Amino acid sequence: MHRPVLLDEVIGWLKPQDGAVLVDGTVGAGGHTAALARQVGPTGRIIGLDRDPAMLALAKEATAGLPVTLVHAPYSAMREVLEELGVSSVQGVLLDLGLSSDQLAWAHRGFSFASEGPLDMRFDPDVDPESGSTSTGPTAAELLSSLSANELAQVFFDYGEERFSRRIARRIVETRRQTPIETTRQLAELVRQSVPGRFRHGPIDPATRVFQALRILVNDELDHLDATLKELPKILAPGGRAAIISFHSLEDRRAKWAFRNDPGLTVLTNKPVTATAQEVAVNPRARSAKLRVAERCPNQAGTPRPLPNPNPHPEPSPRPRRI
Ligand SMILES: C[S@@+](CC[C@H](N)C(=O)[O-])C[C@H]1O[C@@H](n2cnc3c(N)ncnc32)[C@H](O)[C@@H]1O
Repeated sequence: MHRPVLLDEVIGWLKPQDGAVLVDGTVGAGGHTAALARQVGPTGRIIGLDRDPAMLALAKEATAGLPVTLVHAPYSAMREVLEELGVSSVQGVLLDLGLSSDQLAWAHRGFSFASEGPLDMRFDPDVDPESGSTSTGPTAAELLSSLSANELAQVFFDYGEERFSRRIARRIVETRRQTPIETTRQLAELVRQSVPGRFRHGPIDPATRVFQALRILVNDELDHLDATLKELPKILAPGGRAAIISFHSLEDRRAKWAFRNDPGLTVLTNKPVTATAQEVAVNPRARSAKLRVAERCPNQAGTPRPLPNPNPHPEPSPRPRRI
């Protein structure tokens, strides 16, 4: 079962007031949403979005009786969803990025190599049981069978920061000539065999970065995040706050620079907020969580900065060497 990370910190930074309206763009199993809903009380509302209908079903149970509106939509459609609900701006936005422990545990979704399952990895799988709509692109298996070795290597390098990206991509292309790569354990084993022996038995399974990269690709995760970060000043009411929890540097860098470079936002957390040792002890997933918070400037145009950051691009990161 999923435990919401940095829950007290999220409540402390978003400061949900009685009667306020906030958006949880990644409602998941509803842990953060339920806690926020209790804070805003019956005259307030939390609008909870998720791409995964199965997660929305869990959230429905967790938020029963609370002032919560659940919507099946990507968080990048937040502005349109709010418009449809007749909400012009909100006092807070939360994004708790990545995937939930429930999704990881569902073998048939293919997110984890801890159990055998089909390489699907779509947050929004084929058919929404409520609306019957199909709104999804290719599965991880379909991408593994269609992308060239160069394209695969680029994905593993860009989205997984995988130093052995080329070797892994080459082996995938060689293997798929004989047999299609369709299951989680098949891919994990193939990745392990692709990396040099001394890198196979470290604390992190070599398949971890490849799985992360494929999931990001399948779900266009960084595009959704970039689009939403740009929209925040238009969604937040003056003084409203955005809280972003990320689990890897590709997301954290985006949140950090989007907050810093947006004249409509004031950064409230110069350094990311991380979990306490007590929280990590009961929820190991919290270990890599980073929370960044920004506040919408009080005036419409945003507060002009005397010295805007001249670098509009994310800070350079130590890149792994590609082999
Ligand atoms: C880490 S979980 C959120 C957990 C939640 N805060 C809780 O307390 O249970 C992330 C959720 O975001 C959803 N998700 C990922 N990308 C999304 C997107 N672009 N739009 C909406 N939901 C997304 C996933 O389906 C997953 O349910």
